[in-house]
Amino acid sequence: MKATAIANANIALIKYWGKRNKELILPYNSSISMTCDGLWTKTTVEFGDYPEDSIVINDEELKKDEKDVLGHVQRIKKTAGITENAKVVSESNFPVAAGLASSASGLAALTLATTAAAKMNMDSKQLSILARQGSGSASRSIEGGFVEWLKGEKEGGEDSYAVQLAPKEHWHDFRMLACIVSESKKATSSRAGMAQTVATSPYYEGWLGSVDNDLENMRKGIAEKDFTLVGKTAEANALKMHATMMTTKPAIIYWQPATVEVMHSIIKWREEGLESYFTMDAGPQVKILCLKKDIDEIIKNIMELEGVKKTIVCKPGDGVQLTQEHLF
Ligand code: PMV
Repeated sequence: MKATAIANANIALIKYWGKRNKELILPYNSSISMTCDGLWTKTTVEFGDYPEDSIVINDEELKKDEKDVLGHVQRIKKTAGITENAKVVSESNFPVAAGLASSASGLAALTLATTAAAKMNMDSKQLSILARQGSGSASRSIEGGFVEWLKGEKEGGEDSYAVQLAPKEHWHDFRMLACIVSESKKATSSRAGMAQTVATSPYYEGWLGSVDNDLENMRKGIAEKDFTLVGKTAEANALKMHATMMTTKPAIIYWQPATVEVMHSIIKWREEGLESYFTMDAGPQVKILCLKKDIDEIIKNIMELEGVKKTIVCKPGDGVQLTQEHLF
């Protein structure tokens, strides 16, 4: 009863921000992402004669369980009727909790590894529904390429899961360049941040009122490989999400000076003819959207900025998969 899964992180092009149901993790709005090749989490789960359920992430025993990862394992155990304890070991190849969606790849890999170790044969819709209950964005990392998480209408969440809009081959020269401007752990988790936004931002209604139009433009942009439409829509959507965060009480400002420096630079280079767009999540890192033909020039320019510590380039990647390469 042992299985290992590998899942990629994803970058939201239209953001998920705000829950209509906190227990089941049901969102107020649908979201769209690209699954990122090479930003992975690998997780091995074994059920056996262990004294308790245990989780080791990047060589450290899990202590502050903000995302209730243990609760996720126990939810799956309960569904499968498993009484033995789980040993979970997980590794990611990128900084955890720095706004690079480590919970998406982490909870997606954990969901497939745990259900496979429990011999539950789940299809991708069932996996996405289950991963969603661990972390909303993880529902999208089940699928590869370009993905939409349907918000659903039902109270039980049976219609709130991710579907693929286009496979990775559809747009193989699309790139996301993550610019790491800070590697320290973020001050406000996305979970706390979105709850505070829904409760106190006067702009949250404006966010919800305009997101359907963004979703429509994004679906069209992806289907037609219209980079300008995708980039413009993603950038405006990210700024709107951050406007709702900044107007909560107390304000949540994830940006650092280098975040703003990168944003201004991208706008300047764009005016000069080098087309790229920015997006940011619940952290200070800037993710640049661009096409393969421009990536070398953009990296060269970006590395000249003082605040950028390193960059990571991603193309569209695969959804979650099982592997025989166990971590223990
Ligand atoms: O699912 P969480 O708790 O990792 O929240 C993700 C929130 C954002 O990254 C800001 C947006 C998104 O859709 O990924």
